[in-house]
Amino acid sequence: MARLQGKAALITGAARGIGQAFAARYVAEGARVAIADINLDAARAAADALGAAAIAVEMDVTSQSSINAGVQVAELAFGGIDILVNNAALFDAAPIVEITPESYDRLFAVNVAGVLFTMQAVAKGMIARGKGGKIINMASQAGRRVEPLVAVYCATKAAVISLTQSAGLNLIQHHINVNAIAPGVVDGEHWDAVDALFAKYEGRPPGEKKRLVGEAVPHGRMGTAEDLTGMAVFLASSEADYIVAQTYNVDGGNWMS
Ligand SMILES: NC(=O)c1ccc[n+]([C@@H]2O[C@H](COP(=O)([O-])OP(=O)(O)OC[C@H]3O[C@@H](n4cnc5c(N)ncnc54)[C@H](O)[C@@H]3O)[C@@H](O)[C@H]2O)c1
Repeated sequence: MARLQGKAALITGAARGIGQAFAARYVAEGARVAIADINLDAARAAADALGAAAIAVEMDVTSQSSINAGVQVAELAFGGIDILVNNAALFDAAPIVEITPESYDRLFAVNVAGVLFTMQAVAKGMIARGKGGKIINMASQAGRRVEPLVAVYCATKAAVISLTQSAGLNLIQHHINVNAIAPGVVDGEHWDAVDALFAKYEGRPPGEKKRLVGEAVPHGRMGTAEDLTGMAVFLASSEADYIVAQTYNVDGGNWMS
């Protein structure tokens, strides 16, 4: 039985990777999905692959006017948004003494302000419509623990967990459930870039960091985007109505908290 039948979702950063997998699974579960991404061409390709249930929306989560415009397009297309997944994010790595203000500002703009103000724009529509909703923020194991070369990204993901808690407590009065997913290491284009940064700073051959992090997962391998879709459907469904302000680790056993 389709678990999101009749629901409408907006997923940021869904042109590739984890967001794209969520979009495909949501459509398979009966939802219509707005694939909102700064890369419109890739968003269009991802939406085309999913057929009539998906639309592509151009959205830069660092721009309030772009967030507002993208949310409005999805609301008009679907008659309202039931589910928001704040998935768009950037990664960077550097030793503390080499972190640049530009990298810091960009990561906080996308990973933290982008989550807050997209959540705000969609929540306003959900409140006005009066039907509640589900908001899922993509955190990370990086928000649970620190890493010596990943200070800024870790701090942004800790902020996502904190924002999820405050927003969760504030919005449940409107029957809007805000929760988060904290993945561990998920294979894909994102991790190819991460591996290249570790190769640079730890002097490793390309591919070695990726192999090592996969071997270190208690489950025995890196995750896939599809490994996360079950939690993404569950938190978007009515089965999660009583779940408020939580962050769920879906990481093959990497972290416990
Ligand atoms: N891949 C992992 O190992 C991993 C682990 C933990 C958490 N996560 C989190 O999961 C989420 C998805 O990760 P992924 O690996 O699929 O990432 P990805 O890099 O493959 O995809 C990110 C998407 O976001 C889009 N994007 C970037 N900046 C944007 C902006 N300003 N506005 C709108 N869209 C923008 C990109 O175009 C891209 O399509 C992220 O929040 C990430 O931090 C990933």
